[in-house]
Amino acid sequence: MTVNSSRFLADLHALRDFGRDGQGVRRRAFSDPDLAARAWLADRMAEAGLTPHFDPVGNLFGLVPGQSLLLGSHSDTQPEGGWLDGALGVIAALEVARASLEADGRAISVVSFQDEEGRFGALTGSSVWSGKLNLAAADALVATDGTQFSDARARLAARASDFVDPARFVGFLEMHIEQGPVLDQAGDTIGVVTGIVGLRQFQITVKGEQNHAGTTPMAMRRDAFVAVTRIATLLEDRLANIATPKTVWTIGHLRLEPNASSIVPGRAVFMLQWRDADAERLQRIEEAIQGVLAEVQGGTGCAITFERLRQDLAPMPMDDMMQAELAKAAKRVAPGQWRSMPSGALHDASNVAALMPVGMLFVPSINGISHAFEEDTAEDDLVIGLKVLAEAASRLAPL
Ligand code: GLV
Ligand code: MN
Ligand code: MN
Repeated sequence: MTVNSSRFLADLHALRDFGRDGQGVRRRAFSDPDLAARAWLADRMAEAGLTPHFDPVGNLFGLVPGQSLLLGSHSDTQPEGGWLDGALGVIAALEVARASLEADGRAISVVSFQDEEGRFGALTGSSVWSGKLNLAAADALVATDGTQFSDARARLAARASDFVDPARFVGFLEMHIEQGPVLDQAGDTIGVVTGIVGLRQFQITVKGEQNHAGTTPMAMRRDAFVAVTRIATLLEDRLANIATPKTVWTIGHLRLEPNASSIVPGRAVFMLQWRDADAERLQRIEEAIQGVLAEVQGGTGCAITFERLRQDLAPMPMDDMMQAELAKAAKRVAPGQWRSMPSGALHDASNVAALMPVGMLFVPSINGISHAFEEDTAEDDLVIGLKVLAEAASRLAPL
């Protein structure tokens, strides 16, 4: 097969226009731009000779008959997302499947998973498809804007049919931007992914005492925000001896109540997530976090509770044979400019690995920026990635 790089880039730019905001994109799962993008993608699939198929949770497949290799990623974005996160793997998959059909080549199907970016859960669409999360549990998930998953997915009900049988696929390949600085700094073009980190998340609630900001003496306050800042500061200290340079933890979402400048905050609810490639270390971090919460509760007089948010994701190694085929293709297409590396970002591949052999490849992110409007990759690197994907797929897909 011969992939058409200008057609691939044109489609990638066309997808960017759904929800575009400056250089970046806002295309949350099941938002208007996401639904419009999915309808557009289904049309592109049909045009290419693939059969579009929406499942009950909004995953969009482009299928060839019989057994095939599955390629793809996701087309939803973060609230302030880059234009390539997910979109690249979906459009590269479309181009490779299309080129293969044109060449009367191997059997390749395409997928755009839904809600990879966790508006409702983490990797929600692939979690349900892989059997990790049942549909009733998914339906009960509520986004931070109050929308329930069952209501969101009802927006696609008119187009949805059954779940696609995973036994149709012999394996899954996902191409993605690295979203970190490693390839960019090393001057490499391709990363063959060895494994995907594990992730855990807590939703933590701090109950202090709401009171007047002018009359309440500092010594009498139980300020929920002060407790949050102490938690954040103490974590750095208590995790210092557990974390490796690759361990990360983030407080990325905080709701302060009532969030008014003349009121001592009475309540704070925030998300704390941590990621590591080692399952045992994830557990030790969890124990350290619980210790910090108890310590801050004692020191501030605020009541601090937590609940595990969404499902834990275990660290997930990529399949050896898939890695070997991707490495072989990288050696040919980008000799001396590729490396094996772990993924610190989550990917649907992590869930799909429960069903079939899975492999991933990365292309560089300029300055390591992602989950931000500035996210970008040099066009030449996008095309080299496409060629590596095509070469590996043409060896792995059934005839
Ligand atoms: C998904 O993009 C993640 O790594 O959070
Ligand atoms: Mn992604
Ligand atoms: Mn992402």
